[in-house]
Amino acid sequence: MTELRRRYQSHSPDDTRDLARRIGARLSAGAVILLEGPVGAGKTHFARQLILSLLPEPEDVPSPTFTLVQTYESDAGEIWHADLYRLTSPDEVVELGLEEAYETAICLIEWPDRLGDLAPSDALTLSFTHDDVDSREITARGPRSWDTILPGDLHA
Ligand SMILES: Nc1ncnc2c1ncn2[C@@H]1O[C@H](COP(=O)(O)OP(=O)(O)OP(=O)(O)O)[C@@H](O)[C@H]1O
Ligand SMILES: [Mg+2]
Repeated sequence: MTELRRRYQSHSPDDTRDLARRIGARLSAGAVILLEGPVGAGKTHFARQLILSLLPEPEDVPSPTFTLVQTYESDAGEIWHADLYRLTSPDEVVELGLEEAYETAICLIEWPDRLGDLAPSDALTLSFTHDDVDSREITARGPRSWDTILPGDLHA
């Protein structure tokens, strides 16, 4: 059951980067964030900025569109960035080893609807809606344990 719901209005890619950095600074292994929303909504932008903020040295953070998963060694431990758009069956989730990663890494997962029953119940869901060229509404839903990780306000 969803217990927490918070909404952010992002007016620019930099706003979304700031939210990603603030959330990223409080994550540790076992944190799973599901990134929902249509093509071009900003899921990869959010994930890339979060990853960049935790990398010890700058490196390329490509979209995992074709590789399905990219992994990183960060200051907060291992990070898995997945894009499941091209997944055809939840069996492939098992093959990728994503279920183990739920426990051992920080996981950022685009197109999580492909997970079916394999979505972890303690994950945070961020839903992006594209309401204008540079404007995005980002809705956070998840268990109460995320309360201390999520900023109360994007601009506070
Ligand atoms: N407020 C905003 N927040 C996030 N991205 C924004 C914002 N305004 C504009 N953008 C731009 O929107 C684009 C979002 O692209 P991105 O690749 O992150 O989308 P996506 O949701 O991952 O799409 P896909 O489903 O194809 O993976 C980027 O070019 C980004 O700069
Ligand atoms: Mg993407």
